Amino acid sequence: MGRAVDDMTDIERAVSILRAGGLVAFPTETVYGLGADATNAAAVGKIYAAKGRPSTNPLIAHVADAAVARRYAAEWPDAAEALARAFWPGPLTLVLPRGGAIVPEAAAGGKTVALRAPDHPLALALLRAFDGPVAAPSANRSTRVSPTTARHVREELGDAVDLILDGGPCAVGIESTVLDLTTAPPRILRPGAVTAAHLAPVIGRVDAPDIATAIEARATSPGQHAVHYAPRAAAHRFDAADLPRILAHLKLHADRAWALLLLGHREGVARAFAAAGRGPDVPRVIMEMPATPDAYAQRLYATLRDLDRRNVETIYVEFPPAGPEWAALRDRLRRATTPLP
Ligand code: TXA
Ligand code: MG
Repeated sequence: MGRAVDDMTDIERAVSILRAGGLVAFPTETVYGLGADATNAAAVGKIYAAKGRPSTNPLIAHVADAAVARRYAAEWPDAAEALARAFWPGPLTLVLPRGGAIVPEAAAGGKTVALRAPDHPLALALLRAFDGPVAAPSANRSTRVSPTTARHVREELGDAVDLILDGGPCAVGIESTVLDLTTAPPRILRPGAVTAAHLAPVIGRVDAPDIATAIEARATSPGQHAVHYAPRAAAHRFDAADLPRILAHLKLHADRAWALLLLGHREGVARAFAAAGRGPDVPRVIMEMPATPDAYAQRLYATLRDLDRRNVETIYVEFPPAGPEWAALRDRLRRATTPLP
């Protein structure tokens, strides 16, 4: 009982901060967002300042549901209605022609707006009470790892945010799928938990470039810079076939602070290192990441942050296999790491 009353109070405070042009960080099912009133140019400006985000990178406008979304899109095609019915609230963002009430600053001056109804009770309570669009990028400094807990937000943004709503760790863990509905066929600009295979039964064929070349070159999603989601440590990716080479390399560097992120369990890898000596203050971490994409995504960003906190200097990440279910993680890891030198 007391808990529900506290939450109400937090939501009311959050709404009055938004109405006054302030910043509220809030949980979603994907990552935490840094929110401002998307109809207030000065408020939106504070988001860019707090994040150090280039003004050319547009923001997602969060809404409670499709009924609110259609007020802020200049067009609401059948495909948008069908997708909202099938996937909202959820990790799917729809790019549509921008309605006039969304300030140009929230859309980086463009003619389109990205809209999404997030699947988190606190976010939905906030959006319903605010009854308008909340512009919110991930609540991290630009190019850094997205936050998946309230503590991550505090570490990233501290006093730059007026209120942080704490909804616990995010269930999905990586950012929403961004789908451009202004092109035919619609096109995935950023892969996420909702894949082309999920979308096709609802709207037919979808363009889903496997990201390495296509998205990085495209001007329509300026947020898709090559370097993004990056930990402070140097981070390199390697293919499963290269594991023996990596192990040999790491054995030569037992004195360095490194971490090895394996995909699932690899019999004998940890044992191979147990014998080699090391100084007590040098972190050397062998981590088995989940072998399924959903569980991997849920842990990825918290793991990278944790390794930074432990002052690991170099992180070696086993790259996920081909296949659409890993596409979003390949995308994030491609941006967070560089190939092995
Ligand atoms: O899961 C998410 O999407 C999280 C949570 C907070 O909702 N938000 C998020 O926002 O990841 P942000 O700003 O970090 O990423 C938004 C992405 C960027 O790649 C941006 O370029 C793209 O969406 N985007 C936003 N508006 C767009 C538009 N009008 N046209 C094309 N791409 C757009
Ligand atoms: Mg972001």
